[in-house]
Amino acid sequence: MKAGIAREALDGERRVAATPETVKQLAGLGLTVEVESGAGLAAGHSDDDYRQAGASLVQSLDLGMLDVYCHVRPMEPSTAGALRPGSVTVGLGSPSSELPTVRALAAGGITSFALELVPRISRAQSMDALTSQALVAGYRCVLEAAMRLPRFFPLYMTAAGTIPPARVLVLGAGVAGLQAIGTAKRLGARVSANDIRPASADEVASMGGTFIKLDLETAEASGGYARELSADRGALQRALLTPHVAQADVLITTAAVPGRRAPLLVSREMVQGMRPGSVVVDLAAESGGNVEGSIPGQDIPIPTGDGQGVVTLVGIKDPASAMPADASRLYAKNVANLLTLMTRDGVVSPDFDDEVVAGTCLTHNGEVRHAPTAEALAALAGDTALGVAPSGRPQPGPEGVR
Ligand SMILES: NC(=O)c1ccc[n+]([C@@H]2O[C@H](COP(=O)([O-])OP(=O)(O)OC[C@H]3O[C@@H](n4cnc5c(N)ncnc54)[C@H](O)[C@@H]3O)[C@@H](O)[C@H]2O)c1
Repeated sequence: MKAGIAREALDGERRVAATPETVKQLAGLGLTVEVESGAGLAAGHSDDDYRQAGASLVQSLDLGMLDVYCHVRPMEPSTAGALRPGSVTVGLGSPSSELPTVRALAAGGITSFALELVPRISRAQSMDALTSQALVAGYRCVLEAAMRLPRFFPLYMTAAGTIPPARVLVLGAGVAGLQAIGTAKRLGARVSANDIRPASADEVASMGGTFIKLDLETAEASGGYARELSADRGALQRALLTPHVAQADVLITTAAVPGRRAPLLVSREMVQGMRPGSVVVDLAAESGGNVEGSIPGQDIPIPTGDGQGVVTLVGIKDPASAMPADASRLYAKNVANLLTLMTRDGVVSPDFDDEVVAGTCLTHNGEVRHAPTAEALAALAGDTALGVAPSGRPQPGPEGVR
């Protein structure tokens, strides 16, 4: 079977779905691998690196001749339409926002796998692209803050005086938040954090952070994810967080609720209550923002309430793509590991009795297998032509390209 590796078309996307290392893994499965010329350049892999790993290089993939298509960003409907019926795709799908592509995949009889849907179970961790890319994002947002902060992160005791460590507050302690805590600790900051899941206090402590306990009940949904707070509870959380935000030199927000707009944790007034020179990094800027007024890809100076200076509000955009080498190294392993699970004797043949395979599948045999997406499509168009997955199958909640 022939697997094709796309050169990503989206402006600013620098990751690639296979590295020379994973080309060897795919070849070891018995697949022949074609790579689009230049696909890995931004991630540090030349065409020759891929050739030496056993791939053939092509100027552009002949989509109709592929058995497997590997990509990073959700594909365009036209790409889905050009694929051969019965072929398999693996990559990020963003199903809730890319409904036309999902429709094209189903209509074309493509068996597509969306990596956002990988079940959050131990056995699937090596295929979990949300986790691998959130790790990169959490690390990256601390560096973005450190570069903008007009002071050190670590404590320095020098002959010229003692410099106290920066105070970093992290809101949302999931995968990205925990990485942010760990990275800020390694840079020497004094780190505290808050989350609304009950398990988060221990997780924050295990990364070296101090958990801020608020007088607010925890809110956990199934699968270890957070539940959305009511408007009242959300307002109370903001009020309780206000003094902690005011004390922070750096505020990093990473809170998310699967299938919902990011919760608003920090108002403009809270930002204005910080000291001049402080930095706020909103990792959730692309999904609605945890901080009022954040804009993806922009630094916004917010005047402090005392009129003495500004706080820099950083809206993060494409954080994983900003570190394409290691983000691709992890992502490509996620892709190759999922294909390894599904390949026997050189043939990719998904076993839908496997909960990882079934849970990750977006479309198969003309059917949209992810029920929330099928329902969204049906609601959008009153379309009954597309099949809806039977109820009772695993329904992973989260998705979003980080
Ligand atoms: N394979 C696995 O077993 C596996 C893999 C990855 C993650 N997980 C678990 O999945 C869960 C979610 O991880 P994620 O990083 O994808 O989460 P996420 O991206 O959905 O959310 C990020 C964090 O925001 C928090 N949050 C939501 N609303 C908040 C609010 N109002 N205030 C403060 N924090 C708020 C969430 O609790 C979560 O910790 C965690 O329990 C994580 O340990 C398990």
